[in-house]
Amino acid sequence: MTEYKIVTVPHPALKQKSKAVETVDDTIRKQMDGMLKTMYDAPGIGLAANQVGILNRVLVMDLSKRDEEEKPNPICMANPEIIYESDELSLMEEGCLSVPKQYADIERPKIVRVKYLDYNGKEAELEADNLLSHCVQHEIDHLDGILFVDYLSTLKRKMILKRIDKLKKQNLI
Ligand code: NI
Repeated sequence: MTEYKIVTVPHPALKQKSKAVETVDDTIRKQMDGMLKTMYDAPGIGLAANQVGILNRVLVMDLSKRDEEEKPNPICMANPEIIYESDELSLMEEGCLSVPKQYADIERPKIVRVKYLDYNGKEAELEADNLLSHCVQHEIDHLDGILFVDYLSTLKRKMILKRIDKLKKQNLI
């Protein structure tokens, strides 16, 4: 199975807007499988195509607690689109495999409904609340070249990027 390398800031793919896929065919399914494996190995709960340097609108998530031996519950999406978002907001700490070891509280709509093509290429919808809602919004942002640190003040963002630069120089990430 293909395994990908996760790119980290300031990789240019993280700043780009991904293109919709035409259909979910075997090539896209192979990509989804490979992204899931890469995400599980990291480990993380979500991964967008931009993070492995592919600029198509594909993302994968799995919020099951694997360390507590919960059954895997992978969600694969192509061309996800938010069709509803609640006025009510939710504040939650987020992190990102492409912004390693950095966390910040991010405010987002509490509930969203997302339309997408599933692993079989069928149209599907997901209503997400709490962590799943933050996760799917965070991953869709990736497809638009947006990172969670982009919601922070310039000062905070620069501090985080500086810290990553330092960790990279020390070979800690
Ligand atoms: Ni991320």
